[in-house]
Amino acid sequence: MSETDIVLKVIKERRSIRKYKPTPVPDDLIMKCLEAARWAPTGEDMQPWRFIIVRDEAIRKELGRIAGRGSGRRFTVEFYTGKMEARFGEVVKTWPEEKKKRVFGKLISGEVSAFLAEAPVDIVVCAEKSANDPREDCCAAIQNMMLMAKALGLGTCWVIAPVFDVRDEIKVKRLLNIPEEYKVISIIALGYPDEEPKPRPRKSLEEIVFYERFGQKMPKKEVGSV
Ligand SMILES: Cc1cc2nc3c(=O)[nH]c(=O)nc-3n(C[C@H](O)[C@H](O)[C@H](O)COP(=O)(O)O)c2cc1C
Repeated sequence: MSETDIVLKVIKERRSIRKYKPTPVPDDLIMKCLEAARWAPTGEDMQPWRFIIVRDEAIRKELGRIAGRGSGRRFTVEFYTGKMEARFGEVVKTWPEEKKKRVFGKLISGEVSAFLAEAPVDIVVCAEKSANDPREDCCAAIQNMMLMAKALGLGTCWVIAPVFDVRDEIKVKRLLNIPEEYKVISIIALGYPDEEPKPRPRKSLEEIVFYERFGQKMPKKEVGSV
């Protein structure tokens, strides 16, 4: 297999994993993921990222609680402002009432993100607030980390739920002694997968790629089928 095929295979086969085996993850594999992270591009080469490896069960449980609350809070807002259906798109209309109730109920409960407590490792990604592009830098590092994890046979899930509300972020910072001058960007669950989720469909290149001007479709022959 060519190098490009391998890269694309790892990218395409990475899934968000929300169910993990209790098997511990060896330190050297975690460090390989973080080695990939630190080679990400970074605005003005500031490298503002810091990574906290959390294995401690009590801390993970608390992160899971905060994640559940944050996730529930976010989806509750979407639910009561009628944005849930818009977000899930047309497909929701075909769902029977029972399925809608079950899926939306799970999202509102926060259960969907509470699994941070069960992953054997949570990697908390924070950034120096004073950097120029701390969020962008960390997102690039996170993706590198997740792809390396996939290549190593590990699963990951990017979880923003515990920090998209500042009230929760403050709790995470207190829990982990994160200094004021840092911002928590996200938490990445890491471990051996105990599920094989189906890939979520992606928008086609045709739908998302324009030619020279926004909205101008690419001539059909130039849209590669990768
Ligand atoms: C910025 C960002 C934040 C995310 N936050 C959460 C989260 O809080 N909880 C969660 O369960 N998944 C979270 N995800 C995972 C997405 O739901 C997932 O990537 C998406 O549904 C596509 O599925 P896939 O990763 O398996 O391809 C997040 C992903 C990104 C990129």
